[in-house]
Amino acid sequence: MSTILGCLATAAMLPSALASSSTLAALALQNVLDRASPIFGSYVNRTPDKAEWMKAYPDNTPLVHLNIPGTHDSATWNYDEATQRSLKGITDLNQVTVPVPETFRCQDLPFIEMLDMGIRAFDLRYSFDPTNTTLVFYHGPALLSETATVDDVLFGFYQWLDDHPSETIFLSFQHESSTAKYASNNAELQLNLYNILVSAEARHYFLQKKDQLGNLGEARGKIILLRRFDLDQLDASYTEALPGLHFSPSLWTDNSPDISLVYNSKKNLTAFIEDYYQPLTPTGSSAVENIRWKFNATKRHLLKAATGNEDSLFWSFASGGVNHQLVSFLEQSKGKRLGIVMFDFFEQPSELIDTFLTL
Ligand SMILES: *[C@@H]1O[C@H](CO)[C@@H](O)[C@H](O)[C@H]1NC(C)=O
Ligand SMILES: *[C@@H]1O[C@H](CO)[C@@H](O)[C@H](O)[C@H]1NC(C)=O
Ligand SMILES: *[C@@H]1O[C@H](CO)[C@@H](O)[C@H](O)[C@H]1NC(C)=O
Repeated sequence: MSTILGCLATAAMLPSALASSSTLAALALQNVLDRASPIFGSYVNRTPDKAEWMKAYPDNTPLVHLNIPGTHDSATWNYDEATQRSLKGITDLNQVTVPVPETFRCQDLPFIEMLDMGIRAFDLRYSFDPTNTTLVFYHGPALLSETATVDDVLFGFYQWLDDHPSETIFLSFQHESSTAKYASNNAELQLNLYNILVSAEARHYFLQKKDQLGNLGEARGKIILLRRFDLDQLDASYTEALPGLHFSPSLWTDNSPDISLVYNSKKNLTAFIEDYYQPLTPTGSSAVENIRWKFNATKRHLLKAATGNEDSLFWSFASGGVNHQLVSFLEQSKGKRLGIVMFDFFEQPSELIDTFLTL
């Protein structure tokens, strides 16, 4: 009796598409999702209020007209003292000192919760694990999980899109440097990323459109790749084979409140980006003062998005404690295009994403 109940309980936890079958394929997928869970969270198929908000927009909506809520340093939600301690033996192989976990934490909730609560853009920072075998997630020197590889976590996104085919997800990939004493963005690492992004499953789920964003209709059920990396150690043919938009790190001015980056030179398609993460306040300024500067930069950029060329892409990073002040600004911006906005601790305050999405 208890054995039967045990089996039922396990079946109930499987993604819906899989629950009815116990084929090897379904069990293998469950195995991958389990490995991904320290970053993706435990997979559950449900459809709360904001899980399918893109249904409200017609297929012919240009993606640059949408307001896309995202998370900054998305993979950091699970990085507490227990995680840091449990990974210490592995992280030590990198031969770097890792400060206290609070320094690296930008989120509280796993990817599955982000998706179900309306988040559609993810800031993913990858590098080699300490054995140079798989690509995993880092924030600076903080290894965020050893088991949840980039490849495993992508399967979580694929399953979620199968369960929510009206939706589109933007995944930004950036190489995290200074993860290890001898870390290097070398050919081996670049080839590893390339192979993940051109695998059979990636070809199926990543929209195979290049250097431009089209309409929502063709992007439903798909991932749009935002390439904040160069494959400069590989032949140019590798770069040519990748879909998505390219934001070369060489063109992305560090810590700038106002970057213009041409991502399609033939058509002169420009992205306007605010990534002012370390306000240039005088040294010794209080946290309150830093937040004031960051809010100022974020607000200016959102106003620029609201009034700028409607075919341009706007991308802002609203990190660093500005959420509460942003709510009232968002309330005043109803009906305006604000573009992609990446938040820290996006669920605080609870009305932030709802306000952003009901513009
Ligand atoms: C990983 O790669 C780096 C850079 O090439 C190298 O210095 C380091 O020794 C490698 N680590 C291992 C464990 O092989
Ligand atoms: C390209 O686009 C930018 C931004 O919209 C604009 O300032 C610039 O004049 C354009 N250049 C050309 C050659 O059309
Ligand atoms: C607000 O932002 C603008 C543009 O980034 C900058 O010139 C100005 O000094 C900022 N003011 C304050 C008080 O932060």
